Amino acid sequence: MRFYQIPLVIFLIASNFLFSAALPHLKNQGSAVQLIVDDRPFLILGGELGNSTASSLNYMKSIWPKLVQLNLNTALIPVYWDLIEPREGTFDFMLIDGLLEQARQNNLRLILLWFGSWKNSMSCYAPGWVKTNPDRFPRARLKNGQPMEIMSAFSKENCDADARAFASLMRYLRQSDSHKHTVIMVQVENEVGMLSDARDWSPAANQAFSGPVPTELIDYLTEKKETLIPEFHARWAKKGFKTVGTWEEVFGKGLPTDEIFMAWHYGRYVQAVAAAGKAEYPLPMFVNAALIRPGYKPGQYPSAGPLPHLMDIWRAAAPAIDFLSPDIYFPNFAYWCRQYHQSANPLFIPEAQKGPDSAAQALYAIGQHNSMGYSPFSIENIENPANAPLANCYGLLRQLSHLILRSQGTFMSAGVLLDKQNPIQEIKLGRYNLTVSHDYTWGWSGGDPKAPSWPKAGGILLIQGPDEYLIAGTGLIITFASQCPGQTASIQWIQEGNYDEEESWVPGRWLSGDESHQGRHLRIPMGQFAIQRIRLYQYK
Ligand code: DGJ
Repeated sequence: MRFYQIPLVIFLIASNFLFSAALPHLKNQGSAVQLIVDDRPFLILGGELGNSTASSLNYMKSIWPKLVQLNLNTALIPVYWDLIEPREGTFDFMLIDGLLEQARQNNLRLILLWFGSWKNSMSCYAPGWVKTNPDRFPRARLKNGQPMEIMSAFSKENCDADARAFASLMRYLRQSDSHKHTVIMVQVENEVGMLSDARDWSPAANQAFSGPVPTELIDYLTEKKETLIPEFHARWAKKGFKTVGTWEEVFGKGLPTDEIFMAWHYGRYVQAVAAAGKAEYPLPMFVNAALIRPGYKPGQYPSAGPLPHLMDIWRAAAPAIDFLSPDIYFPNFAYWCRQYHQSANPLFIPEAQKGPDSAAQALYAIGQHNSMGYSPFSIENIENPANAPLANCYGLLRQLSHLILRSQGTFMSAGVLLDKQNPIQEIKLGRYNLTVSHDYTWGWSGGDPKAPSWPKAGGILLIQGPDEYLIAGTGLIITFASQCPGQTASIQWIQEGNYDEEESWVPGRWLSGDESHQGRHLRIPMGQFAIQRIRLYQYK
């Protein structure tokens, strides 16, 4: 380099920092929390890969095209501790490097899942040098003293080893991705939770259990007393909101207290890991939970994970974690969305079942709960990806992202999710009351109302003006009523259409006659994914 070129080089390096976008981060908009990527709100149209898929770059070559066909903009992929740190202190990021490159070539963002100390309760991703040295890296134990293949949360050695590895990963991402932002968030561990006792019974755990509840936790609970999750508030109330004593003295004897105790210690461990990572590269970080089957008791389900009734404990223990997420595989999807979209916890669903109902669920979560996004599991195994319902649904969401993101947190949108058990939803939105019914409730729909179950219908409803709505989804029939007594609401016009890359409306058919049941309703037939705009009017 010649001396006169030096200022130019300095300018180029500086401008790279000065003019590059901020790191991916979270930001409030009204009542919503949005993920900001490259300085713009970002809606995650995601899918999570099967656990072992991303362990081979060669294998991944055939996977990326499927993700593109499904209209994803983000893939959720694991990072395996045992592969990145095969020998203690020796790190190998070749696989991550290749995955970043492949994702960029396919124009996809990544959310990395840190498979560290715990993956579905177990510690199968701990490197061999950890697994084979239980004296140094102790295991959790059952009540009968039997050690499990679960690293104990009560060992500083375990926590430090995990935190060092995670910090190295985040340092590597800072060096290799901080100007590209391919990685937009990180999940810390995966479905943490104790099985098959509600708590660890190792000597260190027993000692902690007989000690006092830490003052940090008591201070947090005291400060937030009026806004604690009702279930947890009720438990603490039973003991008169005691602030001093052992776990059993403060929260009572029994499995729920074992779980609270364990949640605090899992949370502290995860906090140490997440904080070490954020110190290197502060991307948004979250944890995910395996949910509870009806009637199961602590110990029967992965206990003490970031579950709704433990939200306050996890938040107190792990402030470096930005939010808690549900993996929703159960049919009562809307219930679990509500459970996680409370107490200012923003919703993001990193795992859900991938079947045909998944598409309707995405529309509901995003429309009703301002979800940051959605991500079915085992995404690469969706058959016929280009024509799958999820591909069509994500196609709609891509077109509507700008409108959805603008309306988040402003109460200008709603989401619906309908099935045979919940065939009708009444919604008050703007100046009208909307009755949204499942397509199969209508005699002419062509569906079989007697079928034992109906495919899920779902949609997003957006206010576009005093008398105008934009409705996107599948399997919906909507009628409208005025909120003013004595006034009748009616349809002026309905138009279907699409948004182009410039976010301009491209009109399609003018929908009237049979398509609106001669002006009686708006309909998007089951199986079709469409966008319709409707203008209403009122008369006496
Ligand atoms: C939930 C886990 O988080 C995933 O990694 C995977 O194991 C699925 N369960 C399998 O259904």
